[in-house]
Amino acid sequence: MAKSHHSAREDTHFGEKTVPLADKQGLVDDVFHSVAHRYDLMNDLMSGGLHRAWKDALVTAVNPPKGDRDFHLLDLAGGTGDVAFRVVEAGGAGTRVTVCDINADMLAVGRERARERGHDEAVTFEQGNAEELLYADRRFHCVTIAFGIRNVPRIERALSEAYRVLRIGGRFLCLEFSAVTVPGIDALYELYSFNVIPRIGAAVTGDREAYQYLVESIRKFPRPERFADMIRAAGFRRVSFTPMTAGVVALHSGWKL
Ligand SMILES: C[S@@+](CC[C@H](N)C(=O)[O-])C[C@H]1O[C@@H](n2cnc3c(N)ncnc32)[C@H](O)[C@@H]1O
Repeated sequence: MAKSHHSAREDTHFGEKTVPLADKQGLVDDVFHSVAHRYDLMNDLMSGGLHRAWKDALVTAVNPPKGDRDFHLLDLAGGTGDVAFRVVEAGGAGTRVTVCDINADMLAVGRERARERGHDEAVTFEQGNAEELLYADRRFHCVTIAFGIRNVPRIERALSEAYRVLRIGGRFLCLEFSAVTVPGIDALYELYSFNVIPRIGAAVTGDREAYQYLVESIRKFPRPERFADMIRAAGFRRVSFTPMTAGVVALHSGWKL
């Protein structure tokens, strides 16, 4: 049989740079290690508070039960717990959230916030890689990931893992930056992303490069139609997406049926 002469090394994007796939996670971890203590403030500053409305739309779609019916959500790449707290506050006594994130610094900020808000019973923070979850099959009623999937080196693996740990009838919801297609707004958005965000990042966190990466990673993320195909390829059904704020963000949805 003819031997392939291709190198076994796989490359991927880290912002605008091309890096070995195996190196991306470490670089992403450095970014979130550096910004963890200012992460929530930066979200408000960068999005002008809009991230709250986007997360509200996600929570509305999660639709946790208001009563004491058992409902267990897995929030992947859940960082400092923002989505988890909103879901617990929207749901009833049976609503619990497991936040899974690879970064110990983001989780530490999240645990502290949970204590301050009295959510330390309902929300659990666990360190883990979205590509290789340590949870049993069909454990969760719903799986969410907000602004996390574009940081994961092997997106397909994270999608199959989300599918595996979901119960039959459960829903996967993913909030992610998307593609602005409204003429005029697209140019303004580019200008804002590449000129303003890294400057705010430098002023607030002292790490301009981290925010340069974050805006570049948005540009490299697949367009929503292609990402919806990836969700379908992981096994999900009734796959759809809803663009918000002229396409700055999209809420993707798929069901395990
Ligand atoms: C932009 S933050 C989003 C945090 C939170 N979901 C929110 O919306 O505020 C991205 C998060 O993805 C996490 N992350 C990156 N790669 C990951 C992986 N392979 N598995 C789990 N989490 C990961 C980072 O540590 C970081 O906390």
